[in-house]
Amino acid sequence: MNSVLIRPATPGDIPSMRALEQQSESAAHWAEREYDALFAAGAPPRVSLVAIENESQTMCGFAIARCATDEWEIENVVVALEERKRGMGSRLIGELLVRARSAGATSVLLEVRESNRAARRLYEKLGFSQQARRSSYYRDPEEDALQLHFSGENLRQFYLEGE
Ligand SMILES: CC(C)(COP(=O)(O)OP(=O)(O)OC[C@H]1O[C@@H](n2cnc3c(N)ncnc32)[C@H](O)[C@@H]1OP(=O)(O)O)[C@@H](O)C(=O)NCCC(=O)NCCS
Repeated sequence: MNSVLIRPATPGDIPSMRALEQQSESAAHWAEREYDALFAAGAPPRVSLVAIENESQTMCGFAIARCATDEWEIENVVVALEERKRGMGSRLIGELLVRARSAGATSVLLEVRESNRAARRLYEKLGFSQQARRSSYYRDPEEDALQLHFSGENLRQFYLEGE
C-alpha cells in the first residue's frame, strides 16, 4: 500500500466520503444532510476519520463513530474497492479504538449485517465479540444484525499496544 495519512474529516471531505459510500452496497447509507450534520454546531459528538493517499491525495477510506462518555458506537467504515484487503479497514477501526480509549470510553459497539463477511472478519480480527443478535434489524434486504462489542480489558490492551 502507498503511504496513507489518517486524519479527522472536514466538511470539504463530504463529496469524497459520499462517493466511497455509494460504491459500497454493504456500507451504511446516509443522506447528504446526515454528513453535513457531522460538522454542525450542537450535533451529537462524533469522530470522523478519513484515509488520504499521500501521493495522489485521494481518499481511500473513512470511518465514523458516535461518542458518548462511556460507550462509542462505530456507525460506518468504508474502504475504496481497489484498496481492500490491504489493512486499511483495520487501521481506521484501530485508530477509532485508540481514540475511544484515550477519551475514557469503556466499550465500543457496532451492528453488522450477518452476511457481511468482510466486515465481520475485520471486527473479529481486531477482537470484537458478539453481544446480541437483532432479528430482522435491516431492511432491503431484510436481515438480522449482529451486535458486536469491544470492551474493558481488550480496549485498555489495544490502547497500550497502540501507544
Ligand atoms: C469491511 C471493509 C471496511 C474491510 O476493509 P479492508 O481494508 O478490506 O480490511 P482489512 O484489509 O483491514 O482486513 C481485515 C481482515 O478482514 C479480512 N477480509 C477483508 N475483506 C474480506 C472478504 N471480502 N472476505 C473475507 N475476509 C475479508 C482480511 O483478510 C483481514 O483478515 P486477515 O488479516 O485474517 O487476512 C471493506 O470490505 C469495506 O469497505 N466494505 C464495504 C463497506 C462495509 O461493509 N462496511 C461495514 C459496515 S458495518
